[in-house]
Order: sequence, then C-alpha cells, then structure tokens
Amino acid sequence: MSLPSVNAPIGQTLPISVTINETAHSLDIEPRRSLADVIREDVGLTGTHLGCEHGVCGACTILVDGEPSRACLMLGVHADGAEITTIEGLAEPDGTKHPIQEAMKQAMSFQCAFCSPGFLMSTVALLRDNPNPTEAEIREELSGNLCRCTGYTSIVEGVETAVTLLGSSALGSTGDQATGGVA
Ligand code: FES
Ligand code: FES
Repeated sequence: MSLPSVNAPIGQTLPISVTINETAHSLDIEPRRSLADVIREDVGLTGTHLGCEHGVCGACTILVDGEPSRACLMLGVHADGAEITTIEGLAEPDGTKHPIQEAMKQAMSFQCAFCSPGFLMSTVALLRDNPNPTEAEIREELSGNLCRCTGYTSIVEGVETAVTLLGSSALGSTGDQATGGVA
C-alpha cells in the first residue's frame, strides 16, 4: 500500500481509496486519525471494537491485505490502497453466518462479546494459515487477543468447533474476501 505524507496541518485532510469488505471507499481524512476511528466513524462499521487503543487488547483486529492488524495502531491514511476485511465482512450477504461465527456460537465462546470481533478476525487468519491447529497453537496464535470474561477455554473450544464444522479445505478459502453482516 502507498504511504501518503502525514505532515499535513491540523484540520487538513488527505484523500485515500480503500476497499472494505469488497466495497470501495474514497475518503478525505485527517492524517492524525486512526484507521479504527475511520472505519467506525467515517465508514460506519462499528463492529470493530476499541478497547485499549494502544495495541494491547486485540479488540480492534481487522485483516489488512489479509493479515491481522491492530486498527488502533494504524493511521487511516496508511490504509490507502489496502483491502480490508472487518467483522462485518464475515457473514454472507443473506446473513448466513461465517463458519467461524457459527462455531463460536455453538461453543458459546463469549460472554459479553466485546472481544469477539478481534478474536474472530484473528481466528480467520489462524485457520487460513493452519487449518488444523493444536490447542497449544490456538492459544499461542490468539494470545494477542484479551478477554476479560471467559478464561479462554470456551474460545479455544470455538476454534476447535470451527475446524470440526467445515474441515480444513472449507476454512482455507475464507481468510480475505468474505462478505456480509456482524458476528
Ligand atoms: S483497541 Fe486496538 S489493540 Fe486494543
Ligand atoms: S467475552 Fe467479555 S471480554 Fe471477552
């Protein structure tokens, strides 16, 4: 992706073009604003949650060019030219849940679910890259996402349920171009 100058005066905006959940957006944004704020406030996709806002909790995890990324740590202008998937992009257009959403639901993975968008996006990338992870690998790969409620066991069970539901081949194609509603 291109990296526009961020040395603009306060109040000045810069134009960016970004694709979010397969929809192209042309935006004029202040260089100081985070990608998370742009996604939530300018694009209106509030499924990306903000917890710590300094890169620790993982609640804001999205896929940027297929890779899990902290939306709170990126500037919006740095997403110019990027292909982004947020939690709203996981389900099918008719509302059918993404297999990982369905698995997490079946496993009752979350309680308050504030952390769930970040865990789901991290899990999409995890199962795309490692379709049959061990429990230790799941815990390691999701260790950048924090949950205050569950103790993590139910989340791990959700990931294992996702593997069981669809198998490695079905999950391998879901990492970067899914579309639809919110978890
Ligand atoms: S809100 Fe981005 S890592 Fe916590
Ligand atoms: S379910 Fe409440 S923070 Fe994770």
